[in-house]
Amino acid sequence: MELPYAEPYKIKMTEPIRTSTRAEREEWIREAKYNLFKLRSDQVLIDLLTDSGTGSMSDRQWAAMMMGDESYAGASSYFRLKETISRIFGMPYFLPTHQGRAAENVIFSALLKEGDIVPGNSHFDTTKGHIEFRKCHAVDCTIDAASDTQLEIPFKGEMDLGKLEKVLKENPREKVPCVVLTITNNTAGGQPVSMRNIRETAELCRRYGVPMLLDSARFAENAYFIKNREEGYADKSIKEIVREIYTYADIMTISAKKDGVVNMGGFVAMRSEELFRKAMMFNIMFEGYITYGGMSGRDMDALAVGLDENTEYAQLDARIRQVKLLGDLLDEYGVPYQRPAGGHAIFVDAKKILPNLPKEEFIAQTLGIELYLEAGIRGVEIGSILADRDPETHENRYPKLELLRLAIPRRVYTDNHIRVIAAACRNIYERRESITSGYRITFEAPILRHFTVELEPVKR
Ligand code: F0G
Repeated sequence: MELPYAEPYKIKMTEPIRTSTRAEREEWIREAKYNLFKLRSDQVLIDLLTDSGTGSMSDRQWAAMMMGDESYAGASSYFRLKETISRIFGMPYFLPTHQGRAAENVIFSALLKEGDIVPGNSHFDTTKGHIEFRKCHAVDCTIDAASDTQLEIPFKGEMDLGKLEKVLKENPREKVPCVVLTITNNTAGGQPVSMRNIRETAELCRRYGVPMLLDSARFAENAYFIKNREEGYADKSIKEIVREIYTYADIMTISAKKDGVVNMGGFVAMRSEELFRKAMMFNIMFEGYITYGGMSGRDMDALAVGLDENTEYAQLDARIRQVKLLGDLLDEYGVPYQRPAGGHAIFVDAKKILPNLPKEEFIAQTLGIELYLEAGIRGVEIGSILADRDPETHENRYPKLELLRLAIPRRVYTDNHIRVIAAACRNIYERRESITSGYRITFEAPILRHFTVELEPVKR
């Protein structure tokens, strides 16, 4: 008999999770103003809010933390991280930051000026937030196929080169400070971008003299998909694939809390010394001195080890298999989601589950609240609350897709937890016709409103 699959690690430490009753959850979510971000973590059974900063570090990462050098300037931890970044990504210059959005803040401070245009493949919300905060425009050039959740294609997160070229052609060079290519494409469902698309995007950028910035939060998962899905890469190691990806990039920002498998951290790296010198000043202003930025020495050491470990195939395989298991179970139960299963999450198609709910009542948020009430599982809305209002007209933006993201933290939950999640989704799917009303906003912040929004049920 062929032996079944097993993870390439065993577990040394556990953390208890608390169960609750539906009546308790009804009260807690009301107190949280129907915003899942406002729940306390001990009111949650399985927390799928994000895979960011929520992974389990390895024994080697914990050991590396003890080697942290907390010197203000020139810490040896910094040099260990610098060596790792230059070996894995081939980037000569980098600035540590406390997380991904801080890296965006630093580099956009150096690159963007009011009125600029930044094309990309579904900018992440903090990226878009930093662009719009500077009175610039984020132009989405994602392929149209990404918004058909039932279409099964291998690289559904790609940049549409035709759309990108149109933006580059129609705007003067000085109005487009960079193009952002996000790997994997989080907003489109954790969908990967092929090496071919990365290379062709870079070629197009070069032709127009615009630098290409890789938003690299889940770069290793993207490399895993290239290895398994793109012709010519099956025999290459993840590290070889990553090295090739970054030969095409001029700049990278990274939230290290994802594929770096650390609880906090990020950086911006670049090839240009001139840009490094410009960005340096903003790093010092917003984050910290250039050899620690927003990170302590021990965090930089944990990240150096995390980047090395998580660019090994077996680690990525264990993780992406688990995400796929959730997708396979949902297939069995007929629950629609963005196909194929992505790298870090399953994005349940809320519009398909609740087709009669008006979009003004926040379809994906309604589904997220139902999942919490059903089983204490916390996902996150990727829909019209997240899409915010148009900065000029102040009208709500209603994206094509209303998704409930179930992000799987790395090495945290077992396959049994996955089965509970799938069963809870199935129960809601079976009683979907009884869900006839959604929510309305009672408070919202002017930017990135989803974190603090307050809601109340619409009563009919
Ligand atoms: N870029 C991408 C593609 C991201 O997914 C994130 C964060 C960021 C940038 C910003 O990084 O959180 O470290 O400041 N995504 C998290 C998520 C929050 O849940 O997907 P950060």
